[in-house]
Amino acid sequence: MKILRRYNDFWNFAAFPALLRRIGLLFPGGKAVRADMTGKGSAWTSVLYGFFLALSLAAIVSVFVVGVLESRDRMVTQSKIQLRQKTALLEAYVSKILEANDMVLKDIASEIDPMSWPEIASEGVWKLLATQKQYLKHSGVIALVNPEGSLVSYSEGFPANSFGVTDRDYFRFHRDHPSDVTFIGEPINGRVYGKPSLTMSKALRRQDGGFDGLILITMPIDYFLDLFNGAASPTDVAQFLREDGKVVVNVPYRDGRAPLPEWFATAVAENPKTGVVSYRSMPEGVDRLIAYRKVGEFPFYVAYGIDERILLTGWRQSVRVYGTVLAIALAACTAAAFLARRRSIALTHSNESLREVSERLLVSQDEQRRSIARDLHDSTAQHLVGAAMELENVKSRMPLVDKETSLSLKRTADLISRSNEELRTLSYLLHPPMLDESGLPNALELLVVGFEERSGFDIELRVDPDLGTKRPRADVELAIFRIVQEALTNIYRHSHARKATIRLVRQGHEPNSVLSLTVRDDGVGIEWRRRRRVGVGLSGMEARLRPLDGTLHISTGKTGTTISVKVRS
Ligand SMILES: Nc1ncnc2c1ncn2[C@@H]1O[C@H](COP(=O)(O)OP(=O)(O)OP(=O)(O)O)[C@@H](O)[C@H]1O
Ligand SMILES: [Mg+2]
Repeated sequence: MKILRRYNDFWNFAAFPALLRRIGLLFPGGKAVRADMTGKGSAWTSVLYGFFLALSLAAIVSVFVVGVLESRDRMVTQSKIQLRQKTALLEAYVSKILEANDMVLKDIASEIDPMSWPEIASEGVWKLLATQKQYLKHSGVIALVNPEGSLVSYSEGFPANSFGVTDRDYFRFHRDHPSDVTFIGEPINGRVYGKPSLTMSKALRRQDGGFDGLILITMPIDYFLDLFNGAASPTDVAQFLREDGKVVVNVPYRDGRAPLPEWFATAVAENPKTGVVSYRSMPEGVDRLIAYRKVGEFPFYVAYGIDERILLTGWRQSVRVYGTVLAIALAACTAAAFLARRRSIALTHSNESLREVSERLLVSQDEQRRSIARDLHDSTAQHLVGAAMELENVKSRMPLVDKETSLSLKRTADLISRSNEELRTLSYLLHPPMLDESGLPNALELLVVGFEERSGFDIELRVDPDLGTKRPRADVELAIFRIVQEALTNIYRHSHARKATIRLVRQGHEPNSVLSLTVRDDGVGIEWRRRRRVGVGLSGMEARLRPLDGTLHISTGKTGTTISVKVRS
C-alpha cells in the first residue's frame, strides 16, 4: 500500500507515531486494520519468504552435515581406541619374549662367568644351553662365541660346529663398545639353520673389563610372523619394526622387503612411545589409520593399521541412506512450501481483486446515490411540490366544499407534505447536498443534529472551521462523511454508549496536511470475534480510505471504542 511506503521510510520521523500505532504500542489493545498485500510489501514478503525457506533448509542440511561428521569422528575415535588396544596386546607379547631372552642371557652369563674358554667348550655348558633353550620355545639357537669370533658352544649339539661370526653386527658391536647392554642386531639368515632371524646378544667381560666373547640367542622371524598373522585380519597390516624404521615383520606381505614407512620417522619424533597416524600407504595407494607402540625398553616398535575405506564402509552406507531420506524430505518440504506460497499468492491476488471490486462498488454506489438523490430532488420532489400547489389551487377554486371533502383535501395535503419531508430525508441520506455546497463542517453538523434527534444520544462535535473554507478534495470529504455516518450508526446499534465525541482537524501545513478524524464512544467496546464475522461497515471504511492513501486505526476496550482516521487532505 502506498501509505506503508511512507512508513517504510526509515528516516521519516513524522511517520513514527503512526508506525508505532500500527504495531499497537500507543494504544494497548488497539489493532491496526490495514494490511500490506501488494507492491513493495509483497516483494518484501517474497524475499523474506525465500530467505526463511533457504534458512530453514540450510539449517536442516547443516544439522545433517554436522551429525554426519560427528558420527565419522566417533567412528574414527573408536577405531583408534581399538588400534591402540591391538598394538598394546602385540607389544605385551613381544616384550615378554624379549625380556625372557634377556633374562636367559643374563643367567647363562653369570653361570659361565668364572669359566675359561676351554671349560666353556665342555659338554656341561652345552647341557646348560640345551636346557635353557627348552624353556624358550620362540628361540632358535643359544650360542657362546669367543673373543676371536668363533662359535665355541651352542644349544643344538655337542661338540659344536665352529662358525666364524666376526662379520656379524653384534660381534662388532660388543667388541668395539665397552658396554654391557643387550644388543639386538639386524635380521639376518642364521648360520645354523639358514632361516631369517634376529639375534639378541650380550658381551662377556674379563676381570679387567676387556672383551671376552659373547653369548647370543637367535629368534626366528617366522615366530613373529605367525604371532602377527594370528593377530591381524586379512585386510589389516601388522608390522614389527626396528627403531630406525626398518620393517622386520610385515603382515600380510611376507617377502620381508617392506620399504621404510614414511610416517614412522615423523610420528616417532613427535611421540616416541605410542601414537596413531593416518597415512597413504604406497605402492597400494591405500589410506590407512595406523597405531604404533614401542616394545618396552627394546629398540623395536609394533604397528597395526586398518584400511580407512573398510573402516568407514558402514558409516558411508548410513550416510547414503540418511542422505537420500533427507534429500527426499527436503524436496518434499520445498515443494510443499512452494505450493503453499503459490496458494498464498493466489489468495493475495484474489483478496486484492476483491478489494478493488469493493472500492469500485463504493465509488459507483456513491455515484448512484448522488444521481438518485438528485433525481428525487429534481423530479419527484418537484412533482410533489407541484401536486401541493395544484391542491392549493383546487382548494381556492372550491371554497364551499362539504366537510368530508375538506378533510380529505387536508389529508392529501398532509400526505404530500410528509412524502416531501421523507423524500428530503431520503435524498439527504443518499447524498447530503450540504456536503457539496457548504462543505464538511455543515454537513457533519446536520448529520449530528439529525442523529441526536433520532437517537437521543449526546454527541460532541468538534470540527476545524477552516475546513469549510479551505476545503479538502471532494472524494476525501465524502469518505470522511461516510465514515462518520457509519461510525455513528455502529455506536447507535452496538456500543450501548451514552456519549460520543467526533473530532475532525487538519494537521500540518499544505501541501502535506493531513485530516485527522477521531470518533470516540464510551460504550462496551468491540468484541473482535463478532467483528470478524459480520458487517461491511468497518471494512467499508478501510475500502474508502485505501484509494485515498489513508489509514484506519481502531482502538477498543471495555471503556469504549475509538476510530482514528488519517488521510491526506
Ligand atoms: N462502536 C462500537 N461499539 C461496539 N461494537 C462495535 C462498534 N462498532 C462496531 N462494533 C462491532 O463490530 C462489528 C462490525 O461492525 P461493522 O460496522 O463492520 O458491521 P455491522 O455494523 O454489524 O453491520 P453493517 O455495518 O454491515 O450494517 C459489529 O457487528 C459490532 O459487533
Ligand atoms: Mg456497521
